[in-house]
Formats: sequence, structure tokens, C-alpha cells
Amino acid sequence: MASRVLITGSTGKLGNALVRIFPDALAPPHRELDVADKEAVLDYIGEKKPKIIIHCAALTGIRECEDNKENAWVVNVGGTENLVKACESVANDCYFVYVSTACVFSGDRGNYVETDVPCPKNYYSLTKLLGEFVVKYSALKNWLIVRTNFVARERWPYAKAFVDRYGTYLFADDLAKGIKKVIDKDVTGVLHVCGKDKISMFELARITTPEVKPMCLADYDGPPLTVDMSLTSTRLEPFKITR
Ligand SMILES: NC(=O)c1ccc[n+]([C@@H]2O[C@H](COP(=O)([O-])OP(=O)(O)OC[C@H]3O[C@@H](n4cnc5c(N)ncnc54)[C@H](OP(=O)(O)O)[C@@H]3O)[C@@H](O)[C@H]2O)c1
Repeated sequence: MASRVLITGSTGKLGNALVRIFPDALAPPHRELDVADKEAVLDYIGEKKPKIIIHCAALTGIRECEDNKENAWVVNVGGTENLVKACESVANDCYFVYVSTACVFSGDRGNYVETDVPCPKNYYSLTKLLGEFVVKYSALKNWLIVRTNFVARERWPYAKAFVDRYGTYLFADDLAKGIKKVIDKDVTGVLHVCGKDKISMFELARITTPEVKPMCLADYDGPPLTVDMSLTSTRLEPFKITR
């Protein structure tokens, strides 16, 4: 079965961690499978007929999506549509796992559960929410939307981190293990896979990069951000972030 798992976005932060958990998975990099290329996606799915798809490929930069909405649309919404449509026509029994984000919520209050009303603050989050709808209203028999929030377990990529932006973060490796657990149980529908503790981005950054400097949202000048991205779940126990 393991060889019939397909991971899109396999060279990204989560994709990388998933490839370690599913070592036999098909994990084509972007240059081998462009999810925005409808024909290529249909050919690939038709040939490989994966049993499970974990769809991670996306444009994930908030500024990048804001500045290039067409690209963000084509990859995040169109790419998801291409995969879903291909499965519907040539692999309808495929278990489709769409990796979404806590940022589908406004972030005004935090502690969102699966049934709370989304309200994206920026274009990236909007495209991720629309991707959810593509999956949710597809003809696929088995689908799972995982809303989450994570970072790679590596040095914080910036000099500073927000003290006043919060989430129930996981590291990508913790999340990959969590995703494997829910896939093994054939969970379907919308699911929040999150950490137990709500912490600031600064606290998160300090785990891997103790010398990171604090900053406030007031110092930030860019697209609107989701401030409190914390999730809880009515369906699944939270995971503990491994420090
Ligand atoms: N990181 C977060 O904070 C976070 C939180 C919640 C949810 N998510 C979601 O989790 C998923 C994985 O996020 P991540 O942080 O691991 O992303 P990432 O590190 O930015 O990696 C994105 C991956 O998608 C690939 N990709 C981009 N455009 C593509 C295309 N047209 N066709 C095929 N592959 C393409 C990239 O390959 P190239 O680099 O070669 O283009 C890369 O492998 C995304 O769906 C994201 O929206 C992320």
C-alpha cells in the first residue's frame, strides 16, 4: 500500500517530513509534476493510480500570494482542482488528504474548532479555503481536510519573531506523524491537527533559535495577518510539540 501514496509538494517543509514517514511514497518534485498542469496531472494520476494522495503543493508565501494573485489561484485552487478532477475520473477510490491552514479563520479570537466559520484575512488563506471547497464538494468518496499550523524543525529563518501572534504549532515532523496516525484510522471530513499548547511565534522560534529577537505586529508592514491561529479539535486529541 505504501508505494501507492502520492505526496505533492514533497520538497517543501511538510512534504520533506512526510517523505520520511512514508519512505515508499511517490514524491515527484515540482519539475516532475506541476499540479497546475491539468493534462500532466491527469496523465500522472491515470498512470500511477495512487490509493492515497497527501496534497501539500502550494504557494505558501503570504506576500508572494498577495503580489501574484493569479499564480496563487492557479496553483492553490487550480492545482487542487486538477488533482481532484483527475482522481474523480481515473482513481475515484483514492483517499484524498488536503493540507489546509489555521489561517482560514480570521484569527481575532483563536481556539477555533472544525465547525467554526472561516474568514480569511489575506489572499493566501482565501485560496487555501477555496481549495477546501474543491475537495469538500467533489465526488470523491474519501477525503480529509487537515487544518494545521507548523514550521520546519530548523533555525528560524528570520532575525525576529512576533511576540503577539499565536498558534497551537507543531514542527513538521510532529505533524507528519500526526497525519500518518489519522490516515491509518481512515479519518475523513474536516479535522484540526494541532499542538496542545498555544504559544507565540517568538516562543516557537526560540526552541530552535535561542538568539532570535522579539518583534511586535505593530512593527510589521505587509498584507493582513491572522493574529491568533490557535486551533482545537472536537474530534482528535492535540499532539505534543516535541522540543
Ligand atoms: N508552513 C505553514 O505554516 C503552513 C501552515 C498550515 C498549512 N500549510 C499548508 O501545508 C502545505 C505544505 O506547506 P509547506 O510549508 O511545507 O510548503 P513549502 O515549504 O512552501 O513547500 C511548498 C511545496 O509545493 C511545491 N509547489 C509549489 N508550486 C507547485 C506546483 N505548481 N506544482 C507542484 N509543486 C509545487 C514546492 O516546490 P518548489 O519549491 O519546487 O516550487 C514545494 O515543494 C501547503 O499546502 C500549505 O498551504 C502550511
